[in-house]
Amino acid sequence: MGTGTVGIVGSGIMGGGIADVAASAGYDVILKARSEASARSALAVVTKSLGRRVAKEKLTQVEADQIGSRVAWTLEYADLGEADIVIESVAEDMDIKRAVFAELDKTCKPGALLATNTSTLSVTELALTTSRPTRVCGIHFFNPANLMSLVEIVVPDICDAEAAAEATSFATTCGKEPVSVKDRAGFVVNALLFPYLNNAARMAAAGTASYEDIDTAMKGGCNFPMGPLALLDLVGLDTSVSILNTLHEATGDANFAPVPLLLELVEAGHLGRKSGRGLFTYD
Ligand SMILES: NC(=O)c1ccc[n+]([C@@H]2O[C@H](COP(=O)([O-])OP(=O)(O)OC[C@H]3O[C@@H](n4cnc5c(N)ncnc54)[C@H](O)[C@@H]3O)[C@@H](O)[C@H]2O)c1
Repeated sequence: MGTGTVGIVGSGIMGGGIADVAASAGYDVILKARSEASARSALAVVTKSLGRRVAKEKLTQVEADQIGSRVAWTLEYADLGEADIVIESVAEDMDIKRAVFAELDKTCKPGALLATNTSTLSVTELALTTSRPTRVCGIHFFNPANLMSLVEIVVPDICDAEAAAEATSFATTCGKEPVSVKDRAGFVVNALLFPYLNNAARMAAAGTASYEDIDTAMKGGCNFPMGPLALLDLVGLDTSVSILNTLHEATGDANFAPVPLLLELVEAGHLGRKSGRGLFTYD
């Protein structure tokens, strides 16, 4: 069982998911959102996930209520002041994340571990935004956070071994399987996964097969649990484009440049599951 308080900044897909995981592991959670509406929608994700586990008899209603009562929300950075670990999970944009880390540096207690859930951005650059760069690392959960077992612990060269060990121990307490990765764009998983996803979108645009058949082929032919186009929609096409742009800049490899189909969908506001439409349409 975890003890102490975990602060989470960001109330999107991953912020709500990490809140669920940390509260389920026993931590008190305080989630910082930009609006009451987005905080409540992140909490609704937690409530729905708990309800599913009660229905499947993985939790009793009493346990679910206890977990739910451990999640609080705020609109103020000041309320993260007593958190032991803070995980930033806002949009995949360096300027936005740097601004968040500057706020966290001002408000969090000196011993707090500051972490980012970034998919690809430089953790070192974020660490250097603070006055405590040795206490900053990546704690990269996967989507959906409550189901995916992996957590990448991203360790910049300037990170203290003790801070990296705290992050690893937090992930283990959350029931996850941590792997330690150097701070290189895309870490392990996204550096290997995104060329494949980008090429699947390229193939969809070329009309090699229907979108459905591309996904069916990769599920049936490679035993993947989901097809690449559905996975892009699950990640979010805006987040996917940001990841590809970072990988492209870091490697210079043209294979990483987001294909026009993805750019056009994002431009049109079709961001995937979270907006109801992306490569596929959702109810
Ligand atoms: N979606 C995935 O599959 C996935 C998986 C692992 C990691 N991540 C990473 O998690 C982070 C969050 O992604 P997500 O999928 O939850 O995105 P999302 O679009 O669902 O949510 C983004 C959040 O960022 C907040 N935000 C946007 N602009 C902001 C600003 N200027 N200041 C403060 N907050 C702002 C939004 O209000 C929202 O709460 C990203 O770094 C992403 O790369 C995403």
